Amino acid sequence: MDFKDVLLKRRAVNFFDPKKPVPDKLIKEMIEMAAQAPSSFNLQPWSLIILKTPEEKMRLRKLAWNQPKVSEAPVVFICLADRTGWEKGHPLVEKNFREMVKAGAMKEEQHEWFLNACQGLYGARPEMEQAFACKNAGFFAMALMFAAKHLGVDTHPMDGFDHDAVRKEFQISENYWIPLLMAVGYFDGTKTLLPPKWRKTYDEIVLKSL
Ligand SMILES: Cc1cc2nc3c(=O)[nH]c(=O)nc-3n(C[C@H](O)[C@H](O)[C@H](O)COP(=O)(O)O)c2cc1C
Repeated sequence: MDFKDVLLKRRAVNFFDPKKPVPDKLIKEMIEMAAQAPSSFNLQPWSLIILKTPEEKMRLRKLAWNQPKVSEAPVVFICLADRTGWEKGHPLVEKNFREMVKAGAMKEEQHEWFLNACQGLYGARPEMEQAFACKNAGFFAMALMFAAKHLGVDTHPMDGFDHDAVRKEFQISENYWIPLLMAVGYFDGTKTLLPPKWRKTYDEIVLKSL
């Protein structure tokens, strides 16, 4: 699908066909495509918990405003944003540094500089950690939705859920924030989707053009 079509045709699909599963191969492909999303220092502080069984989805639905799509969609992602994904000693921070050295983007002796830069940018205040985690995981989530649409799969992002209760129920550790849930599947063709929603105009978006 042409990228403009992906942009225009992606919708938050309220009604999923519960009888139409999404092959694991496609789920893997959409995740691998979305992994190309950009991130701060390429730190990629995102992870997913994938729910597929009716029991697991019902556990989540109870904590997600009882939204039917949580159990009707064949697959639901709990999207995670790692607030510590910039810290010294974090395995992926170290892996990232090694990869940058390997690629020639950094020199070995810049290790301390790199860690201090991360600390200054993301660790100075708790809200910066939160922003770091959620903005990057947000890009990943958007990429997931576009990748899904490209593969002919529909999605629905949701923040209508009890964050702390979901964390507890699924034993998600404190370093993660849960920016959203995402239902994944195929639109139920027997239902009617509302027409495309309004969008802000160029003039409403651009505050200043200096
Ligand atoms: C972060 C985020 C959270 C959302 N949470 C919910 C939700 O809990 N329940 C719901 O029905 N829709 C939710 N939506 C869907 C939006 O209402 C929808 O994306 C918006 O109205 C635009 O419609 P469209 O995606 O079909 O273009 C959410 C969307 C985003 C991006």
